[in-house]
Amino acid sequence: MSIAILYEYPETDEMGIRQTAREMGIDLTYIPFRKISVLIGNESFGFAGPSKDFREIIEGVNCVLNRTQSKNRRLYAASIMEGFGKYVINPLDVETLCFSKFRTLVEFWKRKIPIPKTVFIPCDVHDRTLRGVTIHNEETIADLMQRDLGTGSIVVKPDAGTHGNEVRLAKTREALIKYLDGTEPSIINPVGFVAQEFVEKWFYDLRIRVAKERGTPPHCYTTALARAGFKDFRTNTYLGNMVFGVELPPEVERAAVRAGEAIGRETEAWVIALDAMLNVGEDRFIDDGYIKSGLEDLVPYFDKVKEVKQDDTGKNRNFAAWSKRLEEAYGNYMNAEAYGRVQDVITQSVARGRDRVLFHEANSCPEFWEQTRIIAGVNVAVPLLKCAKSVEGWSYYQKLKLNE
Ligand SMILES: Nc1ncnc2c1ncn2[C@@H]1O[C@H](COP(=O)(O)OP(=O)(O)OP(=O)(O)O)[C@@H](O)[C@H]1O
Ligand SMILES: [Mg+2]
Repeated sequence: MSIAILYEYPETDEMGIRQTAREMGIDLTYIPFRKISVLIGNESFGFAGPSKDFREIIEGVNCVLNRTQSKNRRLYAASIMEGFGKYVINPLDVETLCFSKFRTLVEFWKRKIPIPKTVFIPCDVHDRTLRGVTIHNEETIADLMQRDLGTGSIVVKPDAGTHGNEVRLAKTREALIKYLDGTEPSIINPVGFVAQEFVEKWFYDLRIRVAKERGTPPHCYTTALARAGFKDFRTNTYLGNMVFGVELPPEVERAAVRAGEAIGRETEAWVIALDAMLNVGEDRFIDDGYIKSGLEDLVPYFDKVKEVKQDDTGKNRNFAAWSKRLEEAYGNYMNAEAYGRVQDVITQSVARGRDRVLFHEANSCPEFWEQTRIIAGVNVAVPLLKCAKSVEGWSYYQKLKLNE
C-alpha cells in the first residue's frame, strides 16, 4: 500500500511536498482531481482521465494527502476518498470544521479556548417576494450585530472565505449598513454573516502549526509566523504583508494544542494551521514610527523575494533550484538589521500578551513552502508525510477495502 497526493494543479506547496517525499525516501503517488471520471456501477469501479487509468493506483493507495485548492473541492475530495476507504489528511471531519469560520469557533468556544466575540446572523440582506418586491434587512442585521458587539468597530467576514477576501472593518453604523447593502449570498458566503469584535492587534497576527500523528499526542511547532504591516487592518500574507518568525511562549503553545485538539477531535492524524490574534490593546510599548521605519527598510529585501516568487518559468523548469534562490532571497531579508528590530518587538509583544491570544480560524490546507518553511523553519510537508506514514499500516483499511 502507498501514499498519494491528490490535487487539481500542482502549486508551489504540492511541488514542495513531492520534493520532500523524495528526500525522505517516501514513494508518493499522484492522483488527479480534475479531468477524471469516478465511475461506480454494479460490479464496476473506475477512476480514469482522458488518457490514463488510475484505478490500480487508487486501489493500491491507503492514505491520501488532500491538496485540492478550494474549500468546496477539498470537502468533495475528502468525502469521496473516505467513501472509498482511504485515510485522508485532513479527514473529512476536520475539513468540515475548517470549512466554516463560525463552526470552527463553536469548537473553540465549547472548550473555553479564547476567541474574539463573534456572532452569526443567518439572514440575507435582500429578500425578494414572489411579486418581485425587495425587502431590505440591513437595518435589522446591523441592529443585531451592534446589540451583541457594540457600536464601535465591527469586522464582518464571509463564513467560508480565504485570503482576507471580503473581510471588512466597519467603524461606523453607516459604513456597516453600506457594506451590508452591497452584499449578496455567494458560494463562499452562502447564508448570512459572521461578525466579530475588532481585536486591537497592533500591526501583526500569528499563524501557528499543530500536527498529530497516529499514536502520538498533538504537537505545536514553537516557531510561529507573524504577519505584519500597517497598510490594512488585515495582516494576512496574501495581501503582501511581511513575515517574521516568532518563538511562542509555552502558554500559547499549550493553547494552540488545545485548539488543534478541538478541530482534530477523535481523528488519528491531522495537520492544521491556526490563525490567532493578540489583543494588544494599550500595550504598544514602542512608537509605531520605529516599527514602520523597520518595515520600510525591509522593502528592498522583500521586493527581491517577490521577484523570485514571480519567476514561474524558473520554478516550473527547476523547482529545486528555484527554491534555493528563494531561500537565498529570504536569507538576505532575515539577515537585514531591520528584520531583527521588528522581530524583537513582535517577540516581546507576544511574551507580554501571552494570556491575551485569541484563536479565530483553523486552516486545513495551509500554504507553507515559501514562508513557513523558510521564515519559521517548519516544512509542513514533513508532518504531512509523517502523518500519512503513521496511518499506513493501520487496521482501518482492512475494514474498508474497495473490492469488498
Ligand atoms: N476580529 C478581527 N479583528 C481584527 N483584525 C481581524 C479580525 N479578524 C480578522 N482580522 C484580520 O484580517 C485578516 C484576515 O482575516 P481572516 O483570517 O479571518 O480571513 P481569511 O479570509 O481566512 O484569511 P486567510 O485565508 O489569509 O487566513 C487576519 O489575518 C487579521 O489580520
Ligand atoms: Mg485567516
